[in-house]
This record gives sequence, structure tokens and C-alpha cells, in this order.
Amino acid sequence: MNNKIKKILRKKGKSKIVSLTAYSKSVARLLDKYCDIVLVGDSMANVLYGQENTHQISLQNIIEHSLSVKKGLNKSLLVVDMPKGSYRNKLIAKKNAKLIKKETKCDAVKLENNKDNFKIIKELVTSKIPVMGHIGYTPQFKKKFKVEGKTHKEIKRLLKEALKIERAGAFAIVLECVSENCAKEITKKLSIPTIGIGSSKFCDGQILVTDDMLGLSGFYPKFVKKYVSLNRVIEKAVKKYSSDVKLSKFPKTRNIY
Ligand code: KIV
Repeated sequence: MNNKIKKILRKKGKSKIVSLTAYSKSVARLLDKYCDIVLVGDSMANVLYGQENTHQISLQNIIEHSLSVKKGLNKSLLVVDMPKGSYRNKLIAKKNAKLIKKETKCDAVKLENNKDNFKIIKELVTSKIPVMGHIGYTPQFKKKFKVEGKTHKEIKRLLKEALKIERAGAFAIVLECVSENCAKEITKKLSIPTIGIGSSKFCDGQILVTDDMLGLSGFYPKFVKKYVSLNRVIEKAVKKYSSDVKLSKFPKTRNIY
């Protein structure tokens, strides 16, 4: 286990873990100082590629963006999402996770849980590939958005799932859109950190899609806090540029050779 992961583990119950997504070097270098974990998420499908879901993202897409992100990071832990289909059985998962790790020099991979992929997590961890789990709303496998863990029965099921992921050797687990009670219970019972998205302050850390919290993506469900409306800032700048060009105010003497 590398030192960055050990540092994340030590934070459980002591200080919150800060995480965001990045798909490029320019964004990664801005996050590095403030984030414990930077995730190259398959949310790039919606955010960058304008796709309806995350299902079409390829291994090559993920690897290329991770190479870019890696160049912007110095201290944060780099976690790379395994795309849908890239871990459909133990053998394929191991081959692809090794490829991701070798090509990108990431610290860990993340995979969404689909009832029974604990064995896959175990296989990767045994092969010295650190894994982050992901339960609750898992967009690679669920057609419709639904908050999970609202009933006792569901909390029990999710807790069981989380414990199996921990036993399989994952070093952390994303809880996506589970109820506050569920997040509280899982966080209390697990010895690995929980990273919440739409899952309350009771998780050991939080993650958001950076383009959402910057007000760039146009996707602002209840769990997203928009810290700035970058779309407005960009539009204002582009409008001014357009008017400068039309009125021959740009380029000026200082901008030419
Ligand atoms: O792809 C992604 O950005 C994610 C986060 C939402 C956790 O998996």
C-alpha cells in the first residue's frame, strides 16, 4: 500500500477527506493543493462528451484523460474509474486494471459494485492494485436515479455490501446518493473511509464532479453545491472578446509581433 493511501486511511474519524474529479492537467493542477483524492471519473461521458450516460466511455478515453491529469498532480491520490464492461470478469478486470495502472501510473482504480464483484476487487487487490469501491446509485448498472438506503431492509443490504467490499480489500468506498441514516451506519461500521456524494455529512469525506460545483456542466441536482457560476464568467469573457474583435479593439499593438 503506498504512503498516499496510508495517509487517507489515517484520516478516518479524524479529519475529512476532500475529493473532486478532473479530466485534464489544467484542472488537476488547481485541485492538487486542496484535494486528498482526484478521480478521473467516467462522468466525463456526460460532462465532456455530451453523452446521456457513462456507458460508452472506453478504456482508451479513461487512459488518455488520466495521463493528462497525472501531469497536473503532485500530492493528491490519483484514482481512475474503470469503464463499464472493463471489469466484467476477474481475468478481464485484472488485465485492464493492470493496463490502466501501467499506462497512467495512477494510485488506484475505482469500480462500481454490481451485486457480486467482490471477487473482482479481491483479485485486483491480491495483484497489488489498490481499489476504491462504489455503492448506492451506480450509474454503470442502474437505469434510473434513485436514492438508496431509505428503509431498514435497504440499509441492511447496503451495509452488507459495504462490509464485503471492505473484506475484499478495498481501501475506501464511494457512497453515492444513499440516505443520511445509511451513510451514518456504514461509516460507523466500516474501518475504511467512506466518500460521499449526495450522502450527507456523516461520510468520512466528500466528492463532487468539479464541473458541477463550478457551475459549468448545467447539471445541478440537490446534492451539488454550486460554488461559482463559471458558465456566466466564461460567457462574459467570450462576449467581450467577440465585441473587441468586431470593433477591431483586439489585437492591440501589445498583442502583435
Ligand atoms: O464518475 C464520477 O465522477 C464518479 C463520481 C460521481 C463519484 O464516479
